[in-house]
Amino acid sequence: MKIPNLANEFDGRVAVITGGGSGIGRAVARRYGAAGGKIVVLGRREEPLAETVELIRAAGGAADYVSCDVRDASGVAEAIDGVVAREGRIDALVNNAAGNFVTPGENLSPNGWKAVIDIVLNGSFYATHAAAQHMLSAGTGSILNVIATYAWHGHPGTVHSAAAKGGIVAMTRTLAVEWAARGVRVNCIAPGPTETEGAGKALWGTDAARARVQGGVPAGRFASPEEIAESASFLMSDRADYITGEVLVVDGGQWLGKSVYTDERARA
Ligand code: HXC
Repeated sequence: MKIPNLANEFDGRVAVITGGGSGIGRAVARRYGAAGGKIVVLGRREEPLAETVELIRAAGGAADYVSCDVRDASGVAEAIDGVVAREGRIDALVNNAAGNFVTPGENLSPNGWKAVIDIVLNGSFYATHAAAQHMLSAGTGSILNVIATYAWHGHPGTVHSAAAKGGIVAMTRTLAVEWAARGVRVNCIAPGPTETEGAGKALWGTDAARARVQGGVPAGRFASPEEIAESASFLMSDRADYITGEVLVVDGGQWLGKSVYTDERARA
């Protein structure tokens, strides 16, 4: 394997990033654009998408946006087919669009459950299915799903999102095996608490909640979106070309660090 020049490793490549108008999606888009790739951000609201595009262009990169709800399977397919028609290729897809709110399971309405499953699990499949048609024909491509460790560790208040993200892990592993010999890799990244407006509002809305979350991270701090984007760009790149079906946790040790110090001799 040839290690590429990281400054322009995505030259000539094209990536579609759902939910690219804010937070982690925007940071991944900027990181890919900064390394020479063409970015197409896809999402519901035009204004934040246009801002992401502006930021990438202002930094000398190439970007466009398509406005579309990931819950609309035919709209998503049309958007991705359109990207390939215009750009001639799609090298990477990042399924980052998400919807979330914290609520005890017994208070979650069937419609609330359905809204989150539709955005997170179904939306990721629709975009994956559409992108795979082109990637499998080309014999190359990288699909990256943004999940969360509560997919497996039982975080109260997230049953809808955890079920959706757990479903994405299963989808990732299955498709990784189906497509491995055909050049298409499918992986997940599982960020821990990250300084974004969306997650802040949805998951740690008060100072007390924020302090509790931070206190549970062995690294003692939140991640920046740029740190998450760095790991995402690795999985999207040829540097990761033998990695498929994997979940990369980027969480400052959060989910492993559940144990309490039973004995002071264990503490430095
Ligand atoms: C309880 C709620 C609710 C809330 C919505 N619902 N918000 N229930 N508490 N805060 C219920 C509604 O009452 C309704 O059910 C159903 O959900 C659908 O709501 P709508 O508003 O009609 O749907 P929609 O407009 O499609 O909104 C989808 C959404 C929304 C998921 C509910 O929150 C959304 O689009 N959010 C996008 C932005 C977002 O959440 N970003 C954060 C991602 S952060 P009824 O029964 O009343 O009809 C993230 C990071 C994880 O995921 C990081 C982990 C460390």
